[in-house]
Amino acid sequence: MSASPPRTLPALRPSRSAPGRGLDPVDRVLVEAQRALETVFGAPAARRPNPAADTPDIALDTAERRHAAGLMRINHVGEVCAQGLYFGQAAVAREPETKAHLLEAAQEETDHLAWCADRLRELDSRPSVFNPLWYGGSYALGVLAGLRGDGWNLGFVVETERQVEAHLDQHLQTLPEADQRSREILRTMKADEARHADSAELAGARVLPQPIPSLMAAASKLMKTVAYRL
Ligand SMILES: [Fe+2]
Ligand SMILES: [Fe+2]
Repeated sequence: MSASPPRTLPALRPSRSAPGRGLDPVDRVLVEAQRALETVFGAPAARRPNPAADTPDIALDTAERRHAAGLMRINHVGEVCAQGLYFGQAAVAREPETKAHLLEAAQEETDHLAWCADRLRELDSRPSVFNPLWYGGSYALGVLAGLRGDGWNLGFVVETERQVEAHLDQHLQTLPEADQRSREILRTMKADEARHADSAELAGARVLPQPIPSLMAAASKLMKTVAYRL
């Protein structure tokens, strides 16, 4: 674990928004590994300011704080999964435009990831201990979706984003009333997720047939149950 990397990694930040062409296979694997490590163990930085920056941090009682932290941990895991999915999908996308589309959306998910991590810290809590598993599972799912072709790939984005949008709505209703900082973050995330779905639809997404949407909803329900506590 202490050895330094044997070769120079391509710079991560520019590669998140660039299609990543021109890299040899070993470099590509290293880029993917670096993205995974940064998402799961690092502290990815947001490009946009935290939407809650100007919102007062009202003191919550212990039960409220614990509940808010559980919900924000779920949202943080959701963003870890989004990174895994998008990077997995982008790794096998056929058209450069689809790949660029996925990596651009992933950058906004990085903002969400950083904002959720900030709020978890403010609530004296921590991310899910299972984040490596959530990332790995999502990445594998992203690769599988991407291998079906770009229409499926984008269809997967639409379905994911629509489900996340509905779930953020639910969290906005169940967060403690006083937790306005979490609310501000979730409102901005919800608007971004809706835009991600709309632009994937415009880019040629196909509608996913059953039982895929139901299986995705079931997997997300399992994730939410676990991540609320761990
Ligand atoms: Fe997101
Ligand atoms: Fe999104």
